[in-house]
Amino acid sequence: MTRIAIIGTGVIGSSWAALFAAHGHEVSTTDPRPDATDHLRRAVERCWPSLERQRLVVDTGSPDLVTVVGSTAEAVDGAGFVQENAPERIDLKHDLYREIDGIVGADVVIASSSSGLMATELQSACKRHPERVLIGHPFNPPHLVPLVEVVGGEATSDAAIDAAMRLYTSIGKSPIHIRSELPGHVTNRLQAALWREAYWLVEQGVVSVAEVDRAISAGPGLRWALLGPFATQHLSGGEAGLAYVLEHLGPPMVEWWETFRTAEWTPELKATLVAQMDDELAGIDQSRMLDERDRLLEQLVVAKSGADHLPGGSDR
Ligand SMILES: NC(=O)c1ccc[n+]([C@@H]2O[C@H](COP(=O)([O-])OP(=O)(O)OC[C@H]3O[C@@H](n4cnc5c(N)ncnc54)[C@H](O)[C@@H]3O)[C@@H](O)[C@H]2O)c1
Repeated sequence: MTRIAIIGTGVIGSSWAALFAAHGHEVSTTDPRPDATDHLRRAVERCWPSLERQRLVVDTGSPDLVTVVGSTAEAVDGAGFVQENAPERIDLKHDLYREIDGIVGADVVIASSSSGLMATELQSACKRHPERVLIGHPFNPPHLVPLVEVVGGEATSDAAIDAAMRLYTSIGKSPIHIRSELPGHVTNRLQAALWREAYWLVEQGVVSVAEVDRAISAGPGLRWALLGPFATQHLSGGEAGLAYVLEHLGPPMVEWWETFRTAEWTPELKATLVAQMDDELAGIDQSRMLDERDRLLEQLVVAKSGADHLPGGSDR
């Protein structure tokens, strides 16, 4: 059991707290919001049935392992691992990293959930041990979506990366180590590449927002969730696999790349996207849509965890 400090218990931090507690870790949290205790208790209660259905609760796991304390210093005192989930503001995070670095032991990893900041920027505030600072970027909600991107900064040690990869794996996450710092890490860059083309297609009136959603969710998105884009492409080559696809379908694709454009990022484009989004969701109860998405996502994650023949085994 490692004592975990969770700094910031909003959308992401509360879900991490529940996941660590489900695995029997003591979790010490802090958040300046006045209703932090009630908010976190409710958030952990909401996550718990899903954690149980995913069989992620070990014998010693309990929501009671999560406590709320009044300061960062108290939360990190005695912690073996820190997961920071404060707002995405570099000044605020710098203050936190300076403080945490001054308190926790030299071998305690300080991982940031940040979607957009770099470990190098964060560790610059740590004068004692910048080598234990890294990005541990989850996908929302962390207790349900297995992926976490682990990215070191210029000063991050291999030992810190290894420790984070081991801990995340031990709580059922599916971590990948990203070997260079890039804006958006890797997964959000892949999404952004798709959105770039989708925005342009909508701007040009080729398809609507709803049609793009259908194109992916009724098409390749189904296979991507099981295999990822490369193994999906490999299977489209039949027995000859990826080598054949690259030979046969690669050259036309390279020609398509020449036709790729970027939409103009104008108020008109944003208004078009939002109006078409409203059209797509007309008559749909969005809170039910969210519940249904999470229920189906959970079923998919559970089904994948029982799969024997997917690349890399199951995610968990
Ligand atoms: N929301 C997402 O989809 C998502 C996904 C992956 C990563 N992230 C990253 O996670 C981090 C948190 O994002 P979020 O969506 O949970 O934000 P959020 O606004 O829901 O939560 C942030 C919490 O931090 C608290 N906070 C403010 N100042 C603090 C301080 N000094 N110390 C401790 N806590 C403080 C706030 O009261 C709030 O509860 C960000 O770095 C973000 O980039 C978000």
